[in-house]
Amino acid sequence: DVSDSYGGSARVMYIQGVPLPPFPSMHANLLEQDGFKARNDDIWVVNWPKSGTHWMWEIVKMITSGRAELNDSSKGGTMFPELCPLHVIEKMASPRVLNTHVPLKLFPKVALNSKIIYVVRNPKDAFVSLYYHATGMEPKSANCSWNGMYELLVNGKAQYGDWFDHVEEWLKVLENNPNALIVTYEDMQMDLKKQVRLVAQFLGHEKSEQFYSDVARLCSFQHMKKDKKDVRSVWAEDSEGIFRKGTVGDWKNHFTVAQNEEFNKIFCKRMKNINLDLKFEL
Ligand code: A3P
Repeated sequence: DVSDSYGGSARVMYIQGVPLPPFPSMHANLLEQDGFKARNDDIWVVNWPKSGTHWMWEIVKMITSGRAELNDSSKGGTMFPELCPLHVIEKMASPRVLNTHVPLKLFPKVALNSKIIYVVRNPKDAFVSLYYHATGMEPKSANCSWNGMYELLVNGKAQYGDWFDHVEEWLKVLENNPNALIVTYEDMQMDLKKQVRLVAQFLGHEKSEQFYSDVARLCSFQHMKKDKKDVRSVWAEDSEGIFRKGTVGDWKNHFTVAQNEEFNKIFCKRMKNINLDLKFEL
Protein backbone atom coordinates (compact mmCIF):
# COMPACT_ATOMS: atom_id res chain seq x y z
CA ASP A 1 0.00 0.00 0.00
CA VAL A 2 1.13 3.53 -0.74
CA SER A 3 -0.21 5.87 1.92
CA ASP A 4 -0.53 9.62 2.11
CA SER A 5 -0.63 12.04 4.97
CA TYR A 6 -4.44 12.10 4.96
CA GLY A 7 -4.62 8.38 5.69
CA GLY A 8 -5.58 7.51 2.14
CA SER A 9 -4.01 4.49 0.57
CA ALA A 10 -3.71 3.22 -2.96
CA ARG A 11 -3.07 -0.42 -3.50
CA VAL A 12 -0.56 -0.48 -6.28
CA MET A 13 2.21 -2.73 -7.44
CA TYR A 14 5.37 -1.27 -8.87
CA ILE A 15 6.75 -2.43 -12.19
CA GLN A 16 9.92 -0.61 -13.29
CA GLY A 17 9.06 2.11 -10.81
CA VAL A 18 5.54 2.66 -12.15
CA PRO A 19 2.62 2.23 -9.73
CA LEU A 20 0.08 -0.04 -11.39
CA PRO A 21 -3.22 -1.56 -10.22
CA PRO A 22 -2.47 -4.42 -7.83
CA PHE A 23 -3.62 -7.24 -10.08
CA PRO A 24 -0.59 -9.16 -11.32
CA SER A 25 -2.50 -11.24 -13.89
CA MET A 26 -3.60 -8.00 -15.52
CA HIS A 27 -0.01 -7.09 -16.24
CA ALA A 28 0.90 -10.41 -17.74
CA ASN A 29 1.09 -8.88 -21.20
CA LEU A 30 3.43 -6.19 -19.92
CA LEU A 31 5.74 -8.64 -18.29
CA GLU A 32 5.83 -10.56 -21.53
CA GLN A 33 6.23 -7.43 -23.57
CA ASP A 34 9.29 -8.77 -25.31
CA GLY A 35 7.09 -11.53 -26.71
CA PHE A 36 4.43 -9.17 -28.06
CA LYS A 37 4.17 -9.37 -31.84
CA ALA A 38 2.80 -6.28 -33.50
CA ARG A 39 0.63 -6.62 -36.60
CA ASN A 40 0.66 -4.06 -39.41
CA ASP A 41 -2.95 -3.12 -38.83
CA ASP A 42 -2.94 -2.92 -35.01
CA ILE A 43 -4.57 0.17 -33.56
CA TRP A 44 -3.81 1.33 -30.02
CA VAL A 45 -5.94 3.56 -27.82
CA VAL A 46 -3.55 4.94 -25.22
CA ASN A 47 -4.21 7.29 -22.33
CA TRP A 48 -3.78 8.02 -18.68
CA PRO A 49 -6.74 6.26 -16.99
CA LYS A 50 -10.25 7.70 -16.94
CA SER A 51 -9.69 9.88 -19.97
CA GLY A 52 -12.20 8.29 -22.34
CA THR A 53 -10.77 4.85 -23.13
CA HIS A 54 -14.12 3.12 -23.44
CA TRP A 55 -15.52 5.96 -25.48
CA MET A 56 -12.69 6.03 -28.01
CA TRP A 57 -12.41 2.23 -28.12
CA GLU A 58 -16.08 1.97 -29.07
CA ILE A 59 -15.72 4.59 -31.80
CA VAL A 60 -12.65 2.88 -33.29
CA LYS A 61 -14.37 -0.52 -33.23
CA MET A 62 -17.37 0.89 -35.09
CA ILE A 63 -15.15 2.56 -37.67
CA THR A 64 -12.96 -0.46 -38.30
CA SER A 65 -15.87 -2.90 -38.42
CA GLY A 66 -18.03 -0.56 -40.51
CA ARG A 67 -20.95 -1.40 -38.21
CA ALA A 68 -22.60 1.39 -36.26
CA GLU A 69 -23.61 -0.72 -33.26
CA LEU A 70 -22.32 -0.95 -29.72
CA ASN A 71 -19.96 -3.86 -29.17
CA ASP A 72 -21.02 -6.37 -26.61
CA SER A 73 -17.91 -6.51 -24.47
CA SER A 74 -19.41 -9.25 -22.34
CA LYS A 75 -18.77 -11.56 -25.30
CA GLY A 76 -15.17 -12.40 -26.06
CA GLY A 77 -13.64 -10.11 -23.45
CA THR A 78 -12.13 -7.81 -26.04
CA MET A 79 -13.14 -4.60 -24.31
CA PHE A 80 -10.19 -4.59 -22.00
CA PRO A 81 -7.26 -5.88 -24.00
CA GLU A 82 -5.02 -4.32 -21.42
CA LEU A 83 -6.33 -6.86 -18.96
CA CYS A 84 -5.83 -9.80 -21.30
CA PRO A 85 -2.80 -12.03 -21.22
CA LEU A 86 -0.67 -12.20 -24.32
CA HIS A 87 -2.08 -15.49 -25.58
CA VAL A 88 -5.58 -13.95 -25.71
CA ILE A 89 -4.32 -10.86 -27.53
CA GLU A 90 -2.59 -13.11 -30.03
CA LYS A 91 -5.88 -14.81 -30.90
CA MET A 92 -7.79 -11.60 -31.53
CA ALA A 93 -9.00 -11.04 -35.07
CA SER A 94 -7.40 -8.24 -37.08
CA PRO A 95 -7.53 -5.35 -36.99
CA ARG A 96 -6.97 -5.47 -33.26
CA VAL A 97 -8.05 -2.43 -31.28
CA LEU A 98 -5.79 -2.59 -28.25
CA ASN A 99 -5.65 -0.26 -25.31
CA THR A 100 -3.28 0.58 -22.56
CA HIS A 101 -2.75 3.17 -19.84
CA VAL A 102 0.93 2.47 -19.32
CA PRO A 103 3.56 5.16 -19.53
CA LEU A 104 5.76 5.08 -22.58
CA LYS A 105 8.58 3.13 -20.97
CA LEU A 106 6.34 0.10 -20.36
CA PHE A 107 4.82 0.10 -23.86
CA PRO A 108 6.13 -2.65 -26.16
CA LYS A 109 8.74 -1.06 -28.42
CA VAL A 110 7.63 -3.17 -31.38
CA ALA A 111 4.21 -1.51 -31.18
CA LEU A 112 5.53 2.03 -31.54
CA ASN A 113 5.11 1.89 -35.33
CA SER A 114 1.43 1.00 -35.02
CA LYS A 115 -1.38 3.52 -35.31
CA ILE A 116 -1.78 5.12 -31.91
CA ILE A 117 -4.66 7.31 -30.75
CA TYR A 118 -3.73 9.15 -27.57
CA VAL A 119 -6.69 10.59 -25.66
CA VAL A 120 -6.04 13.35 -23.14
CA ARG A 121 -8.57 14.60 -20.60
CA ASN A 122 -8.08 17.61 -18.37
CA PRO A 123 -6.39 16.20 -15.28
CA LYS A 124 -8.81 17.66 -12.76
CA ASP A 125 -11.72 15.69 -14.20
CA ALA A 126 -9.54 12.63 -14.82
CA PHE A 127 -8.45 12.71 -11.15
CA VAL A 128 -12.04 12.88 -9.91
CA SER A 129 -13.01 10.07 -12.24
CA LEU A 130 -10.11 7.92 -11.02
CA TYR A 131 -11.16 8.58 -7.44
CA TYR A 132 -14.60 7.08 -8.13
CA HIS A 133 -13.06 4.26 -10.11
CA ALA A 134 -10.46 3.24 -7.54
CA THR A 135 -12.84 3.50 -4.59
CA GLY A 136 -15.87 2.04 -6.40
CA MET A 137 -14.32 -1.18 -7.63
CA GLU A 138 -14.37 -4.56 -5.97
CA PRO A 139 -11.72 -5.27 -4.85
CA LYS A 140 -10.97 -1.62 -4.16
CA SER A 141 -7.64 -0.39 -5.43
CA ALA A 142 -7.79 2.69 -3.22
CA ASN A 143 -9.27 3.23 0.16
CA CYS A 144 -9.46 6.92 0.84
CA SER A 145 -11.40 10.13 0.93
CA TRP A 146 -11.20 12.57 -1.95
CA ASN A 147 -8.55 14.53 0.01
CA GLY A 148 -6.46 11.39 0.38
CA MET A 149 -6.81 10.58 -3.29
CA TYR A 150 -5.95 14.13 -4.32
CA GLU A 151 -2.68 13.90 -2.38
CA LEU A 152 -1.80 10.59 -3.99
CA LEU A 153 -2.61 11.94 -7.43
CA VAL A 154 -0.67 15.19 -7.23
CA ASN A 155 2.30 13.21 -5.98
CA GLY A 156 2.07 10.74 -8.86
CA LYS A 157 1.44 7.83 -6.52
CA ALA A 158 -1.93 6.63 -7.77
CA GLN A 159 -2.23 3.91 -10.40
CA TYR A 160 -0.28 4.52 -13.62
CA GLY A 161 1.74 7.25 -11.97
CA ASP A 162 2.20 10.91 -12.66
CA TRP A 163 -0.24 12.49 -15.12
CA PHE A 164 2.23 15.12 -16.36
CA ASP A 165 5.02 12.62 -17.00
CA HIS A 166 2.61 10.35 -18.85
CA VAL A 167 1.36 13.07 -21.16
CA GLU A 168 4.76 14.68 -21.72
CA GLU A 169 6.57 11.45 -22.54
CA TRP A 170 3.88 10.15 -24.85
CA LEU A 171 3.42 13.45 -26.68
CA LYS A 172 7.13 13.66 -27.32
CA VAL A 173 6.99 10.54 -29.50
CA LEU A 174 3.49 11.09 -30.89
CA GLU A 175 3.58 14.77 -31.85
CA ASN A 176 4.26 15.19 -35.56
CA ASN A 177 4.08 11.42 -36.00
CA PRO A 178 1.87 10.53 -38.99
CA ASN A 179 0.93 7.28 -37.27
CA ALA A 180 -0.45 9.09 -34.25
CA LEU A 181 -3.57 11.08 -33.51
CA ILE A 182 -3.99 13.15 -30.35
CA VAL A 183 -7.57 13.78 -29.29
CA THR A 184 -8.93 15.48 -26.20
CA TYR A 185 -11.92 14.29 -24.21
CA GLU A 186 -13.23 17.84 -24.18
CA ASP A 187 -13.11 18.11 -27.99
CA MET A 188 -15.11 14.89 -28.14
CA GLN A 189 -17.64 16.45 -25.80
CA MET A 190 -17.88 19.61 -27.91
CA ASP A 191 -18.38 17.98 -31.31
CA LEU A 192 -18.33 14.21 -31.31
CA LYS A 193 -19.20 13.78 -34.97
CA LYS A 194 -16.22 15.93 -35.97
CA GLN A 195 -13.87 13.80 -33.87
CA VAL A 196 -15.38 10.56 -35.25
CA ARG A 197 -14.71 11.85 -38.76
CA LEU A 198 -11.11 12.76 -37.82
CA VAL A 199 -10.50 9.31 -36.36
CA ALA A 200 -11.94 7.62 -39.45
CA GLN A 201 -9.75 9.75 -41.74
CA PHE A 202 -6.71 9.05 -39.62
CA LEU A 203 -7.36 5.31 -39.78
CA GLY A 204 -7.93 5.43 -43.54
CA HIS A 205 -11.48 4.12 -43.11
CA GLU A 206 -13.49 7.04 -44.42
CA LYS A 207 -17.25 6.60 -44.23
CA SER A 208 -20.40 8.54 -45.08
CA GLU A 209 -21.62 11.56 -43.10
CA GLN A 210 -24.62 9.44 -42.11
CA PHE A 211 -22.29 6.83 -40.62
CA TYR A 212 -20.44 9.47 -38.60
CA SER A 213 -23.78 10.80 -37.30
CA ASP A 214 -24.89 7.29 -36.34
CA VAL A 215 -21.64 6.60 -34.48
CA ALA A 216 -21.86 9.93 -32.63
CA ARG A 217 -25.46 9.19 -31.63
CA LEU A 218 -24.68 5.67 -30.42
CA CYS A 219 -21.62 6.86 -28.54
CA SER A 220 -23.41 9.62 -26.62
CA PHE A 221 -22.99 9.24 -22.88
CA GLN A 222 -26.68 8.53 -22.31
CA HIS A 223 -26.78 5.87 -24.97
CA MET A 224 -23.61 4.12 -23.85
CA LYS A 225 -24.68 4.21 -20.22
CA LYS A 226 -28.01 2.68 -21.10
CA ASP A 227 -26.98 0.10 -23.67
CA LYS A 228 -23.31 -0.72 -23.27
CA LYS A 229 -22.85 -3.74 -21.11
CA ASP A 230 -20.49 -2.80 -18.30
CA VAL A 231 -18.99 -5.66 -16.34
CA ARG A 232 -21.11 -5.03 -13.23
CA SER A 233 -19.47 -7.70 -11.10
CA VAL A 234 -16.30 -5.65 -10.64
CA TRP A 235 -18.18 -2.66 -9.18
CA ALA A 236 -19.55 -2.08 -5.70
CA GLU A 237 -23.33 -1.92 -5.59
CA ASP A 238 -23.49 1.83 -5.01
CA SER A 239 -20.97 2.64 -7.75
CA GLU A 240 -22.06 4.09 -11.09
CA GLY A 241 -19.40 1.99 -12.80
CA ILE A 242 -17.55 3.17 -15.89
CA PHE A 243 -20.35 5.39 -17.21
CA ARG A 244 -20.51 7.59 -14.15
CA LYS A 245 -21.21 11.21 -15.08
CA GLY A 246 -19.57 11.90 -18.41
CA THR A 247 -19.19 15.66 -18.10
CA VAL A 248 -16.52 18.35 -18.22
CA GLY A 249 -16.12 20.25 -14.95
CA ASP A 250 -17.21 17.77 -12.27
CA TRP A 251 -13.89 18.63 -10.58
CA LYS A 252 -15.60 21.79 -9.31
CA ASN A 253 -17.72 19.61 -7.05
CA HIS A 254 -14.63 17.98 -5.54
CA PHE A 255 -11.54 20.21 -5.55
CA THR A 256 -11.42 22.52 -2.54
CA VAL A 257 -10.43 26.13 -3.18
CA ALA A 258 -6.98 25.39 -1.73
CA GLN A 259 -6.52 22.24 -3.82
CA ASN A 260 -7.55 24.13 -6.93
CA GLU A 261 -5.10 26.95 -6.28
CA GLU A 262 -2.31 24.50 -5.57
CA PHE A 263 -3.06 22.40 -8.61
CA ASN A 264 -3.28 25.43 -10.92
CA LYS A 265 0.26 26.37 -9.89
CA ILE A 266 1.53 22.84 -10.47
CA PHE A 267 -0.27 22.76 -13.81
CA CYS A 268 1.28 26.03 -15.01
CA LYS A 269 4.74 24.84 -14.09
CA ARG A 270 4.53 21.33 -15.45
CA MET A 271 2.74 22.18 -18.70
CA LYS A 272 5.65 24.35 -19.87
CA ASN A 273 6.98 21.51 -22.02
CA ILE A 274 3.59 20.18 -23.08
CA ASN A 275 1.99 21.64 -26.14
CA LEU A 276 -1.71 21.18 -25.38
CA ASP A 277 -4.66 23.47 -24.91
CA LEU A 278 -6.88 21.70 -22.39
CA LYS A 279 -10.31 22.86 -21.36
CA PHE A 280 -11.50 22.58 -17.76
CA GLU A 281 -15.02 23.74 -18.55
CA LEU A 282 -17.10 24.06 -21.68
P1 A3P B 1 -16.56 10.23 -15.31
O1 A3P B 1 -16.10 9.34 -14.19
O2 A3P B 1 -16.11 11.65 -15.16
O3 A3P B 1 -18.03 10.14 -15.54
P2 A3P B 1 -12.28 5.40 -19.15
O4 A3P B 1 -13.12 4.76 -20.17
O5 A3P B 1 -10.95 5.83 -19.65
O6 A3P B 1 -12.21 4.56 -17.91
O7 A3P B 1 -12.97 6.78 -18.74
C1 A3P B 1 -14.17 6.80 -18.02
C2 A3P B 1 -14.70 8.21 -18.04
O8 A3P B 1 -15.20 8.50 -19.37
C3 A3P B 1 -15.88 8.36 -17.10
O9 A3P B 1 -15.86 9.72 -16.65
C4 A3P B 1 -17.04 8.09 -18.05
O10 A3P B 1 -18.28 8.56 -17.58
C5 A3P B 1 -16.57 8.82 -19.29
N1 A3P B 1 -17.28 8.34 -20.50
C6 A3P B 1 -17.44 7.06 -20.90
N2 A3P B 1 -18.19 7.02 -22.01
C7 A3P B 1 -18.51 8.29 -22.31
C8 A3P B 1 -19.30 8.90 -23.34
N3 A3P B 1 -19.90 8.18 -24.26
N4 A3P B 1 -19.41 10.25 -23.33
C9 A3P B 1 -18.79 11.00 -22.39
N5 A3P B 1 -18.05 10.48 -21.37
C10 A3P B 1 -17.92 9.15 -21.34
